[in-house]
Amino acid sequence: MEIESAVSTPSNQQENFLDQILNVEKNSWPPELQASREKFKSRLRIFPQGFLTVKINEKIKGVSTSQITTYDPSSQKTWDEITGNGMIKKTHNPSGNALYVVSVGVSADSQGKGIGGMLIQSQIELAEKLGLKYLFLGARIPGYDAYCKHNGDITVEDYLKKKNEKGDIYDPEIRFYDRQGLHVVKIIPDFEPDEQSRNYGIVMLWENHS
Ligand SMILES: CC(C)(COP(=O)(O)OP(=O)(O)OC[C@H]1O[C@@H](n2cnc3c(N)ncnc32)[C@H](O)[C@@H]1OP(=O)(O)O)[C@@H](O)C(=O)NCCC(=O)NCCS
Repeated sequence: MEIESAVSTPSNQQENFLDQILNVEKNSWPPELQASREKFKSRLRIFPQGFLTVKINEKIKGVSTSQITTYDPSSQKTWDEITGNGMIKKTHNPSGNALYVVSVGVSADSQGKGIGGMLIQSQIELAEKLGLKYLFLGARIPGYDAYCKHNGDITVEDYLKKKNEKGDIYDPEIRFYDRQGLHVVKIIPDFEPDEQSRNYGIVMLWENHS
């Protein structure tokens, strides 16, 4: 497995690179949440340093994109608002104090091998390298709707407290980010259209103590 930033992608290879990115996107996200070529192209142009990929045997299997912004604990912004509709054109601000992870996706055939963890750790390293105080993102809670359907409705606050049989956080995605050193700071209703998460987004934060 090797991790790369898109800074080194030659411009004549860009379309081929984007083909591979879209392939990962298709194999990782539910259809309603997949980002278009135009959005990835824009993120690549605006902040290539935060555009990270992981390859296995020369094939891209994981992708994460980010932007620099300012962390505002009182913000109630949706994903579309915070990322300028996923384009980051008007929202990326090099003088901000935080790295915002716009997306993380790993192809279904390569999930559970540590690729997602590697991508988040590299975004954290980038935040450190840039001297930023925070890294944050809006996590999904893809187990929430299914949990309520099986066990009866509970509030999102109660759902976040649920543990699995191993005593770990119940929701797979919150567990994933928690393991990478991020913690839950806020619940945002109507964060993005996402049936599995009943449209909730969970703001998760990492703080730079160095
Ligand atoms: C979430 C995701 C990026 C994790 O990548 P990964 O390479 O599988 O992660 P790692 O191997 O480093 O870590 C495994 C952990 O990821 C989480 N995870 C695995 N598959 C998942 C899935 N389909 N959805 C959410 N979380 C998942 C679990 O916490 C798992 O740990 P466990 O062994 O305790 O169950 C990946 O599963 C994915 O692309 N999911 C779909 C797209 C998505 O929801 N992205 C999140 C952006 S908000």
